Amino acid sequence: MHDFSREVHGTHTFDSTGAISAPIYTSATYRHPAFQQSTGYDYGRVANPTREELEKTMALLEQGERSWALSSGMAAVNMVMHLFHPGDHVLLSEDLYGGTVRLANEIYARYNIRFEYVDTSDTGLTAAHITPATKGIFIETPSNPMMRISDIKALAELAHKNDALLIVDNTFLSPHFQKPLTLGADIVLHSATKYLCGHNDIIAGILVVRDAQADYAQQLELFIKSEGPNLPPLDSWLLLRSIKTLGLRVERQAANALAIAKWLQEQPEVTDVYYVGLPDHPGFKLQRCQATGNGSMISFKVKTAAIATQALGKLHLICFAESLGGVETLLTYPLAQTHAEMPPELLSRTGLDDRLLRLSVGIEDPGDIIADLAQALHG
Ligand SMILES: Cc1ncc(COP(=O)(O)O)c(C=O)c1O
Repeated sequence: MHDFSREVHGTHTFDSTGAISAPIYTSATYRHPAFQQSTGYDYGRVANPTREELEKTMALLEQGERSWALSSGMAAVNMVMHLFHPGDHVLLSEDLYGGTVRLANEIYARYNIRFEYVDTSDTGLTAAHITPATKGIFIETPSNPMMRISDIKALAELAHKNDALLIVDNTFLSPHFQKPLTLGADIVLHSATKYLCGHNDIIAGILVVRDAQADYAQQLELFIKSEGPNLPPLDSWLLLRSIKTLGLRVERQAANALAIAKWLQEQPEVTDVYYVGLPDHPGFKLQRCQATGNGSMISFKVKTAAIATQALGKLHLICFAESLGGVETLLTYPLAQTHAEMPPELLSRTGLDDRLLRLSVGIEDPGDIIADLAQALHG
């Protein structure tokens, strides 16, 4: 089956009544027929039928063997960070969601895990930073917020040659456009708060593994069962419902984004446009090899910081807000919002400055989005 069909139907293994919409099981515990017998469900932290349908659907969409639905994207990143031990070295994209950098630098670095940030869109440079202690490479592609593209297949080979894991945060493209596990990545994670949810109404995270029997997958199972960061049944159901329209939403968003990116390139106030759907983007060719679409995240720089900050207060249709991936178009100021806690050295290396704006394009009429941007930038 193709992505659109899988997204609508999921695995549909949840009941025998013929229900089209997955039932919401709110039971925290389950009665057993007799001693040493079980229905397969014992206790809600360990397994819940609604959450399980979501997990099976996400494993299907990402083409992995096992998935877990968690309470936030950061819970998913956190479970992955648990895999590393004192003395380990982990390489991360230098252009990364600020919350992941904070978790690594301010919490896990305390346990003597060494995090190093490199431009993972340069495979040779990444290879040069591998040491015998390197146990993981953690990337976002496109990266956040500079939209750099990393070569998933080449990085998977590099990681595996060194007995390390390749972990891909696939939030920006969703499995509709990119399936990193099929390119050799070991773990995929999502802030499901974004495209998977698509309506800005839940906070959720997803983890998917390529090999459910591998040691890292067994460890993740242990962490999740023991610590309880799972997604509750009502939110699991909302996410399942959202995923039915994932393809429709992201295809429309990507078409809107391309039109807006081209328009931005022609504006006198705009100096740079970072969108992988534009042929002059350095990752344009690679993107065609590893993804089936470009997503709808655009970053752009304007001539002065004043133009950027003043535009935020003039918006009508577009919302000045953090986050991304929903049906509503959002404009973010990364320096003060998503990347506010980024170390200055990483800001200057990536070029994230006070002239940068990040647009998450929604499903509204593209002409209306452009008209709002025009009056905010020119006005
Ligand atoms: C790429 C990326 N990964 C992870 C996260 C964290 O997800 P959450 O906010 O759902 O905890 C975010 C949040 O913005 C993100 O943009």
